[in-house]
Order: sequence, then C-alpha cells, then structure tokens
Amino acid sequence: MNVLLLGGSPSAPSTTWRLLQLFGERLAALGHRSVALQVRQLPAAALLQGDGTDPVLREALSLVFEADAVIVGTPVYKASFSGVLKTFLDLLPQDGLAGKLVLPVATGGGQSHMLALDYALRPVLAALGARHILPSIYATSQQLPWDPARGLQPADAIAVRIEAGIEQLHGELQLT
Ligand SMILES: Cc1cc2nc3c(=O)[nH]c(=O)nc-3n(C[C@H](O)[C@H](O)[C@H](O)COP(=O)(O)O)c2cc1C
Repeated sequence: MNVLLLGGSPSAPSTTWRLLQLFGERLAALGHRSVALQVRQLPAAALLQGDGTDPVLREALSLVFEADAVIVGTPVYKASFSGVLKTFLDLLPQDGLAGKLVLPVATGGGQSHMLALDYALRPVLAALGARHILPSIYATSQQLPWDPARGLQPADAIAVRIEAGIEQLHGELQLT
C-alpha cells in the first residue's frame, strides 16, 4: 500500500521529520511503499498565495490523492500545528482526504500541549473527509534524541507508542 509521509516542519534538521522517516522505515519492512513530502521544500510564494496551479504544488497534491494512507507530521507551534502544514492543507479540496487512513503525529517542546493534535489538527483532517483518523502520536523532542551513528533513538515509552501506531496502520491497510 501507498503511504505518504507529510512533513509540516519548517526546520531542518527536524525531529518531526526524523520521526516520520522512522515510520517510513518500519512500514517498508512490512511491505508498504512510502513517499516523502516535506512542505518546507515546496515553492513558498505559491504556498502563501494558495496557487494550486503551480506545477510543483500540483505534483505534491497528486501524492496526497494517490496515497492510501497519510502520516501527517507537525511540530507543535503556539499550541497548534504548524502554519507551514496549514498552507498545504488549505490547498486540498474539501474532500481531499476522502477514503484515506490518516495518522497524526506531532512533536513538541513539552507535555503541556500534547492535546494540540486532537483539538487543532484532528478537526481539520476530519473536515477534509479522512476515512479513519488513527489515534494521534505525540512525543517531546527530549524523548526523541538523535544519534548521528544510530539515528533516532526514541525513549521506551514513545517506542511503544510508535510500534502500536505502526501495527494499527498496517492492520488497517490490510483491510483496504
Ligand atoms: C515558533 C515555535 C513555537 C513553538 N511552540 C510550541 C508550543 O506551543 N508548545 C510546545 O510544546 N512546543 C513548542 N515549540 C517547540 C517545538 O514544537 C519542538 O521543538 C518540536 O519538536 C520541533 O519540531 P521540528 O524539529 O520537527 O521542527 C515551538 C517551537 C517553535 C520554533
């Protein structure tokens, strides 16, 4: 099955993007094909102007339309999801996620905004017609240390959540 990794951080390197890549690796081991899309790499002027006719944006949007599942990753910014991600979601048609499985993933600086995914991002994903929005996965950047040699080293509690999310997504994709 076709899984889109949609990264909504403006930063590089990005903890959120590293986490999405980990999801991609784990899903590849289960036989799924993942496609990477970082909004920060798209043409900024076209994004800000909401120009869905831009050829690069059209190509990016087609990745969403072709996906069976979308893992939407965002840093928590100001107790919500990133504006970068919103510029891209705003380009989708109202039914842009219709029929798709969606897994929301976020990283934040602390635990106090862990509900941001559920009160801010989840309603937007639902408004876009997502078929099934899986339970959100949230981790702090402290729980996701990066080792240059070994890559992302999630803390035990987060590793468990990641594996559960992957299992659930894999199971749902089998039913698609
Ligand atoms: C502009 C800005 C706003 C932020 N606002 C919050 C916030 O409201 N709550 C929070 O927990 N972390 C906040 N953070 C911390 C980031 O969410 C956190 O460092 C995240 O892991 C960054 O992910 P990234 O490396 O993928 O960009 C903010 C960071 C920045 C730069």
